[in-house]
Amino acid sequence: MIRTHNCGELRLSEKGAKVCLEGWVQKIRDKGGMLWIDLRDRYGITQLIMEEGKTQDDILAKARGIGREYVIRTTGVVVERVSKNDKIPTGDIEIAVEGLSILNEAKVPPFLIEGETDGGEELRMKYRYLDLRREPVRKNLELRHKLMNATRNYLSGKDFIEIETPVLIKSTPEGARDFVVPSRINKGEFYALPQSPQTFKQLLMVAGFDRYFQIVKCFRDEDLRADRQPEFTQIDCEMSFVEREDVLQMFEGLVRYLFKEIKQIDLQPFQRMEYEDAIKLYGSDKPDLRFGMQFLELNEVVKGKGFNVFDSAELVVGIAVPGAAEYSRKQLDELTEFVRRPQIGAQGLVYVKLNNDGTIKSSVDKFYNQDDLRSWASEFGANDGDLLLILAGEQKRTRFALSELRLELGSRLGLRPNDKFVPLWVLDFPLLEWDEETERYHAMHHPFTSPKSEDLNQLASSPGEVRANAYDMVVNGVELGGGSIRIHERRIQQQMFDALGMSDSEAEDQFGFLLNAFEYGAPPHGGIAFGFDRICAMFGGSESIRDYIAFPKNNAGRDIMINTPSQISDEQLDDLDLTLKSDEK
Ligand code: AMO
Repeated sequence: MIRTHNCGELRLSEKGAKVCLEGWVQKIRDKGGMLWIDLRDRYGITQLIMEEGKTQDDILAKARGIGREYVIRTTGVVVERVSKNDKIPTGDIEIAVEGLSILNEAKVPPFLIEGETDGGEELRMKYRYLDLRREPVRKNLELRHKLMNATRNYLSGKDFIEIETPVLIKSTPEGARDFVVPSRINKGEFYALPQSPQTFKQLLMVAGFDRYFQIVKCFRDEDLRADRQPEFTQIDCEMSFVEREDVLQMFEGLVRYLFKEIKQIDLQPFQRMEYEDAIKLYGSDKPDLRFGMQFLELNEVVKGKGFNVFDSAELVVGIAVPGAAEYSRKQLDELTEFVRRPQIGAQGLVYVKLNNDGTIKSSVDKFYNQDDLRSWASEFGANDGDLLLILAGEQKRTRFALSELRLELGSRLGLRPNDKFVPLWVLDFPLLEWDEETERYHAMHHPFTSPKSEDLNQLASSPGEVRANAYDMVVNGVELGGGSIRIHERRIQQQMFDALGMSDSEAEDQFGFLLNAFEYGAPPHGGIAFGFDRICAMFGGSESIRDYIAFPKNNAGRDIMINTPSQISDEQLDDLDLTLKSDEK
């Protein structure tokens, strides 16, 4: 190796040393008699200096022909800077250049490769390898690496072993849509990419591995959002001979360890909440507990005064927003606009201002007098200066809309700082969810989740009432992970498939391997999987997981750098025995 140091390494203590550095040219400043180059690599930036009269003429001439992002090698002596830069660790020194070679030229980059860039999202995605040269993006991947290492450390220390499971597996109808891969050798047949290694990790428990984990790519063909990618990474874990409490403790331990190791934060004790309460109090199964504003149901107090919107509603529910009575007409209109957006779906918003002077002003003054409104305020336990915001309508949609409004207000009021972390276990999810479209039950988590033992006898008679032995880990309103205690008996697994409306032959065809395995001594087991990209984004203080993935897909599921998905040749289609419909050609 020719280079002696990296670009983030040299300090005054090396003054006088002869060094050789290699890297990319971030910036060149030519002041006539003097010329500086900022040389960058993964580790930092070091300034090079050349001076007429001191530096050889041919080196100066060569330096003047260099452009941004050229790859160069330089040799020189470490000298103390006259004007120091306290913003970078190498800011006390610079390299008086004695030798310079151009290792590769570079075209002018399409955007600024600096902390703050002028490149738009699409452009940066197209040239992702250039975007990755920027410090903030590089730091995100360094954080990802650290988290991956710490995860492996913790789990290995607890006797988990990492085992890889296959990527070409079998398509099943449960869960999201599968990405499928046609088989050339088995014409007309398809593999599917795993949505998670769920069944394999359970088979590893049957095999006796006792504690398994895998940092693993998963694939889901679903609509994309800031926290969803079609391929993403899970920390997938499974344990044998455990009950729910063992799993909760173990993985609370993991998350606690990560926060301590990576962010030097001692997390507060994990709160626990039943699914039903989460929905009732926050309208969401992943409530952000950094702030209060719990829901209050008002059906009993508001009905019967002639206000049809409330009288005809299945649910009237509101929140008290502390200190927001001063909101202007414009601000209230904005909130109304917010809840009316199609993705939120409320019809309108009722407000009640509890003014600081003791008077009350509401948007429903026509129907309710001051005493009525004061009684609402006392139901809320609200104070003068607070603002009550109330929505009405069908239960599920109204709760959803109020939950979004609560989060919006939390953000507006600065109650969701990204350096505060409030972890929560959400417990006792319903086992099944009725799907109007297909008119059958779906597993809320997945079909291998065990019903709570006390609810098991209701599985055939009232399946919708059965609770699952399932849990989600939520931090700041983000679902970081989810898991469950599993079914490990063939008989119960079969009952579950029944409840899902699967015939015996369908169950046998799709999951026969698992049912069979359960007949060869399956231990009781349970586990969890975390969204690793989401953990990275949370640790990095961002909402978008894309920033923490080296080569992510855009919102349309495309990688615009390599331009995929893309068509394949007619020969490939022939090989696979596939034909496209004529309008897709
Ligand atoms: P689940 O489907 O809840 O459970 O997934 C586990 C966690 O993975 C993350 N996640 C995603 N992250 C990014 N993009 C996506 N498209 C995406 N989908 C899910 C979430 C989620 O909490 N096999 C079960 C786990 C188990 O029961 O052990 C499973 O996959 O953070």
